[in-house]
Amino acid sequence: MLERLGLAALHRLDPETGHGLALLALRARLVPLPGPFTTPRQRVRLAGLDLPNPVGLAAGFDKNAVALAALTRAGFGFIETGAATPRPQPGNPRPRLFRLAEDRAVINRFGFNNEGAEVIAARLARRPAEGIIGLNLGANKDSTDRAGDFAQVLRRCGAHVDFATVNVSSPNTEKLRDLQGPAALRALLAGVMEARAGLPRPIPVFLKIAPDLSSDELAALAEVALASGLDGIIATNTTLSRDGLASPHAGQAGGLSGKPLFEKSTRVLAQLSELTGGRLPLIGVGGIDSAEAAYAKILAGASAVQLYSALVYQGFALVGEIARGLDALLARDGHASLVDAVGTGRSAWL
Ligand code: FNR
Repeated sequence: MLERLGLAALHRLDPETGHGLALLALRARLVPLPGPFTTPRQRVRLAGLDLPNPVGLAAGFDKNAVALAALTRAGFGFIETGAATPRPQPGNPRPRLFRLAEDRAVINRFGFNNEGAEVIAARLARRPAEGIIGLNLGANKDSTDRAGDFAQVLRRCGAHVDFATVNVSSPNTEKLRDLQGPAALRALLAGVMEARAGLPRPIPVFLKIAPDLSSDELAALAEVALASGLDGIIATNTTLSRDGLASPHAGQAGGLSGKPLFEKSTRVLAQLSELTGGRLPLIGVGGIDSAEAAYAKILAGASAVQLYSALVYQGFALVGEIARGLDALLARDGHASLVDAVGTGRSAWL
């Protein structure tokens, strides 16, 4: 109830101001948080990480790692902070975040606004010991070596996190998504793997992809991913598509997330599941707003999931609801463990 009243108040504000206040409220412990949640059925080992439950916070919510202590008590099985770029940058001019309430969606064109790898590394060094925390790696808009930026952020911050994600799929930095092409991606990942080898402790590295790739592009990408030493793929980032939207903000430039992204991102996930045949774990993201939606991603091939936009509409109470509901759905279908369910419904999305 308290959270619903808070959300209603935040939605009267400009979305970016509202988001800033939500982060402040989290840090000030004004948001009721349940603490960690786990059951034997939903414990999952993913790329060497022991997740207490498979429900993660997607990148972009806490770009500067300011609210990690609170977020580790929100019930998530894992958290992804960032994106961090080597140097701080302001991002695009405001307004750059839009709520599409009629569509249960969000459009953002932030453009990797963040305080830079130095400041973020210092915060990560003081992170809570408990909880699984990863960092989303980005590139500076004005960089002369964007591919090198990913390795640079990993070198600077990698010692303080449990995993890192190469984000070549944000639509808000011009030409960034070209790095998903096979030749560019191969070279970029080689640099990132070299940076990882130099860390005091090797951490899993994931690749986050766009939902707007063709079948051929996906097949080429999967081949590079399998050959590169990556530990998993996160599918997907936001979309440039605007199909079927009702909100007046539908025409805003940027990446669309939330409910309208669910189907598209789940199809990409299922395709990747088929292409990689269980050789790489997949994390399903895009439009998850309920336990049923999270379960659908698992059946389509995900070993874990992440969400962001639905939190804007339903608050943090949703995290525990999804984790508890997922447990009930797995039990209903006779799965003793989440792993048994992964990919069993893939064909429905192909
Ligand atoms: C994002 N997302 C994102 N992804 C990423 O890899 N790096 C980032 O910095 C950001 N930033 C960001 C900001 C905002 C405001 C939003 C809404 C989203 C994408 C996000 O992690 C996720 O992939 C998509 O939003 C799809 O999931 P949901 O929101 O539909 O659950």
